[in-house]
Amino acid sequence: MSTTPPLSDADRAHLGRAVALGRRGWGRVHPNPMVGCVLVRDGEVVAEGWHGEFGGPHAETVALEAAGPAARGATAYVSLEPCRHEGKTPACTRALMASGVARVVFGAADPGAESGGGGAELARAGIEVVGPVFDEPEAHSLNPAFHHRFASALPWVALKLAVSLDGRIAEREGVRTTLSGSESAAAVHTLRAGFDGILVGGTTGRVDDPLLTVRGAVEPRVPPVRIVLDPAAAIPSDAAVFEAAAEVPLWVFTRDDAAEAELERLETAGASVHPVPAIGPHELDLGHVLRHCAVAGVGAILCEGGGRLAASLLNGDFVRRLYWVVVPRLLGTEGVPAFPDVVGSDAAGVVWTPAEPARLRGPDTWITLDRREA
Ligand SMILES: NC(=O)c1ccc[n+]([C@@H]2O[C@H](COP(=O)([O-])OP(=O)(O)OC[C@H]3O[C@@H](n4cnc5c(N)ncnc54)[C@H](OP(=O)(O)O)[C@@H]3O)[C@@H](O)[C@H]2O)c1
Repeated sequence: MSTTPPLSDADRAHLGRAVALGRRGWGRVHPNPMVGCVLVRDGEVVAEGWHGEFGGPHAETVALEAAGPAARGATAYVSLEPCRHEGKTPACTRALMASGVARVVFGAADPGAESGGGGAELARAGIEVVGPVFDEPEAHSLNPAFHHRFASALPWVALKLAVSLDGRIAEREGVRTTLSGSESAAAVHTLRAGFDGILVGGTTGRVDDPLLTVRGAVEPRVPPVRIVLDPAAAIPSDAAVFEAAAEVPLWVFTRDDAAEAELERLETAGASVHPVPAIGPHELDLGHVLRHCAVAGVGAILCEGGGRLAASLLNGDFVRRLYWVVVPRLLGTEGVPAFPDVVGSDAAGVVWTPAEPARLRGPDTWITLDRREA
């Protein structure tokens, strides 16, 4: 395997296209990674493919089947190292070798013990292999939850907040405030589709009364579990989250000394109740909550606020990505702060770096940042 000779602009453009194709699997392939593939012969794109459904054919197989004999002598651009693992589908390395491709350029290394190493296998078979092309931050930012799984027993946690220019998330305490625009609202539903769980703090549950379901352009293969942290088991039985409890699971985490009658009330209303230890009157042990989620197969969690839960997650070093939605308003000193009591992570050598370019959605600016060790 080699990363020389250097990639041409055309190589980079085709690899970028493979990444973009891979993103079409959002909401449908996780916990598998999103992967795209472009086959190019004599400068012409002969086929494209992407992994579109968990358990379904991989990007390389889709593109090779579409190309047929035109794959012979082509370059395959793949966003992730081709797998060499015979699992639900045959190994992509075998399909690439059988197709007669001359060259494989891949973006990110596959960290899997069984699936990884496909690049070296292709090189041993006489195919010119270039990759991994992406450095680690770039590779991880494409499929962060997938890569996180190989490094941590806890779920990958992303935090999304809509924040005014003066760092506020609601007009004042106890008031539901619609801050972001309709374009952002649509984007949030698409975002939710790519997660296993959607998490909110108890105050957000009570004040905003959200449904927390996915109601957008992408229908998730598995609807994300709704998760509410409600230490005293005080969320009312007629809260909106209970409405869809028969179709989409609702987990309520409470203190382990919460009143038994309240726990029963929540169960009767449709929640699955999980009593856990608390570290303060209003703070459940987040490590405990997240470990519970991981064991139950919830590997990627989107926290949608509010501010105090966001601060606790940051202070506990649990947040790996921020979706920071800047809303062009000033809410003033009565507004609810985004991060009350954040202790700060700069001193611990943590930096937040852009995971993708900032994006305008209607009047709002979406900034996506990944946590890195400095
Ligand atoms: N702009 C946005 O993106 C956005 C998003 C969400 C919410 N909001 C707004 O934010 C406000 C609510 O935010 P908030 O900061 O007051 O409260 P919050 O973060 O929604 O909820 C905090 C509550 O969650 C429970 N909790 C359990 N374990 C916790 C832990 N380890 N750390 C922190 N909280 C834990 C506690 O419930 P108990 O109090 O029951 O003990 C705690 O008081 C509302 O006005 C809502 O409209 C805005």
